[in-house]
Amino acid sequence: MRQVGCGIDIGGSGVKGALVDLGTGEFIGERVRIPTPMPATPEAVAGVCREIIDALEVEPGTPVGVSFPAPIIHGTVPFMANLDQSWVGVNVDVLMTKTLDRPCHTLNDADAAGLAEVAFGAAKGVSGTVIVTTLGTGIGSAVIVDGTLVPNVELGHLEIDGHDAEKRASSAQKELQDLSWKKWAKRLQRYYSHVEMLFSPDLFVVGGGISKKHEKFLPLLDLRTPIVPAALLNTAGIVGAAYAASRLS
Ligand code: BGC
Repeated sequence: MRQVGCGIDIGGSGVKGALVDLGTGEFIGERVRIPTPMPATPEAVAGVCREIIDALEVEPGTPVGVSFPAPIIHGTVPFMANLDQSWVGVNVDVLMTKTLDRPCHTLNDADAAGLAEVAFGAAKGVSGTVIVTTLGTGIGSAVIVDGTLVPNVELGHLEIDGHDAEKRASSAQKELQDLSWKKWAKRLQRYYSHVEMLFSPDLFVVGGGISKKHEKFLPLLDLRTPIVPAALLNTAGIVGAAYAASRLS
């Protein structure tokens, strides 16, 4: 019988949710997207998550996973880089479980993407250390060793040449600073060679919306480690969250 999960991905511009086939990692039916409320306070965002659950008509017994753009330590947000600061100290599991009226499990967005890539995507069956990075507003990172996630590794905030890495090399910075592919790739080169030196990974997987255009920048990088685009693109957060929640229920 098909095992069904539900994932919600909270982002800076949109909150997205879908039912997920946990055997294949594919969506069942349509994805629902609602713009992130402004200000993006915990109550307002949790309310939007509730609307999504209602729109998807999620069965009461279906576990709900929530992907969130900050580290999540046993449910709680220790710091917040790119969403409203009022999230700091909030236990997102408790808030979501109450607002959605069912058990919810929250995890970091890049960790969710990483789990999805290992279970269904570009890192499936890869042994050793896999580092999944998501290039977007910030840089998210997931470290997975022989299939096991090391949660909350924040490689987007490595300090490189005196800068917070994501403030130089995220795809949002490419846009903001109007960088050519070549100029941006130079920054990515600096970033990935530093991470490579620190971790000696077996594989890099690059996600985030911009990975759709991977042929514009991945070939410009010169690394020892193989580097490949993510397979799940914009579904990874939802799928990974649904998958993580199902493993806990
Ligand atoms: C946050 C990470 C998050 C990443 C991508 C960073 O600024 O600190 O937790 O995974 O952005 O959203």
